Amino acid sequence: MKKTCLMVALVFFIGILTLPLMAGQKALPKADPAALWTYITQTSPYKNWKPWPDHKGLQKGRAPHGPFHKVFVNDIALSSPKPPVKYGSIVVKENFNKKKQLKIITVMYKVKGYNPKDGDWFWAKYTLKGMAKPFGKPKGCVGCHGTRANNDFILLHEFK
Ligand code: HEC
Repeated sequence: MKKTCLMVALVFFIGILTLPLMAGQKALPKADPAALWTYITQTSPYKNWKPWPDHKGLQKGRAPHGPFHKVFVNDIALSSPKPPVKYGSIVVKENFNKKKQLKIITVMYKVKGYNPKDGDWFWAKYTLKGMAKPFGKPKGCVGCHGTRANNDFILLHEFK
């Protein structure tokens, strides 16, 4: 009897441990700046993600984001055939100064029900240490990117 219980417990725990691996993806973070930072730097490091096919590598940028940037998108965003992108999409942009030194990291994260009237994006601007300011639904981010609401607020990728 005891042995059976032990076996059941063992199978149960192995199941719990391997379930996320089998699902092939790690649980997405909440719409929270610290949780999102942990996700993009540790859980699923954005540096391992891919660029948009039509916007690769270091590119020249415009105000307010700075002279150069590099964009990384997760698989959920990449596999979105047309706007709006799928929930769970994350776009990370590294922002560099004139000397091509990394200064700021800006992120858009699509969260179901977070902000339906403006595309359900969670926005964050991070220092390299992961301090977010501003974050959430800042009027600036939403307003400027909102000029392309029909492209799901995304400025650097054309869906074909
Ligand atoms: C005044 C306009 C403006 C504001 C305000 C603005 N952005 Fe952007 N954003 C841009 C432009 C233009 C680009 C295209 C890349 C570039 O030129 O640097 C961009 C690109 C991005 C990208 C890459 C994804 C994409 O759209 O292709 C992210 C992520 C991003 N911005 C995040 C933010 C966040 C977070 C905020 C608020 C803290 C913000 N942006 C505020 C104009 C703006």
